[in-house]
Amino acid sequence: MSQSAVSSANCSPAQLQTFLDIATVAAQAAGAQLQHYWGNLSDIREKGRPGDLVTEADRAAEQAVLEVIQRHLPNHSILAEESGQVGKLDDEFLWAIDPLDGTTNYAHQYPAVATSIGLLINGVPQVGVVYNPIREELFQAATGLGATLNRRPIQVSHTPELSQSLLVTGFAYDRTETSDNNYAEFCHLTHITQGVRRAGSASLDLADVACGRLDGYWERGLSPWDLAAGVVLVREAGGLVTAYDQSEFDIMTGRLLATNPQIHGVLSHELLRVKPLDKMSGNAIPSLG
Ligand code: IPD
Ligand code: CA
Ligand code: CA
Repeated sequence: MSQSAVSSANCSPAQLQTFLDIATVAAQAAGAQLQHYWGNLSDIREKGRPGDLVTEADRAAEQAVLEVIQRHLPNHSILAEESGQVGKLDDEFLWAIDPLDGTTNYAHQYPAVATSIGLLINGVPQVGVVYNPIREELFQAATGLGATLNRRPIQVSHTPELSQSLLVTGFAYDRTETSDNNYAEFCHLTHITQGVRRAGSASLDLADVACGRLDGYWERGLSPWDLAAGVVLVREAGGLVTAYDQSEFDIMTGRLLATNPQIHGVLSHELLRVKPLDKMSGNAIPSLG
């Protein structure tokens, strides 16, 4: 049984499959927009903190996702990065949508970009689609239904030791404003593993853990739309997703540790050695906490 299977008792496998199919259609519609604007952007702006970009591709992709989900599921709530909230965050069904995860990559035509669509059922991620339309990689998962890449089953790696692992992480846009910026953790883990990548798309980082290309991922300062889909992928592929201290994952904290089962405990231990819990900052989005 996957790490989140217990909480999906209120939805049948057939219902979850229907939600997964809708999310897939929505992600493919967004992907068509991302393919259209690839290398063809005329409107790139900073939307808040330095480096936090938004483009016409983000907006067009989000509209494409919303059109599909709202047509099929008009009563479900939505939390979308560019247009915000429709309905209630504590709704039974909440879709967390990042139309373009990896906007900086997209603006530079670095092909680590994806649409990420996750469904929280009673607060727990249960359905996830992450689609990279440039590399044409479609990751899908739903609780109890397994995880796939281009419709083929995927699994996390079996790398047994942290010293043999390849990890990935990221640095939030508030990195110049906080000492909880993940730099010390990055340096330490770089010393004691085979390497730490920074690919620039949280949902793809999770997808790459799910399919075993990477052994583990940690990051802070994230939003529910970055994480909801990828968390389902990792769990359904046999991985573990928790807080840094291995306590229960809470998507509203914006912080997570996602790995294969073998290195989870030791990576948690090393992260807490560098950054004790009382030195960690609060939620990514205080209003959501
Ligand atoms: C960002 C990416 C990046 C992560 C940032 C996110 P965006 O999302 O997922 O990898 O480090 O914290 O905000 O802005 O490209 O959608
Ligand atoms: Ca994002
Ligand atoms: Ca985004």
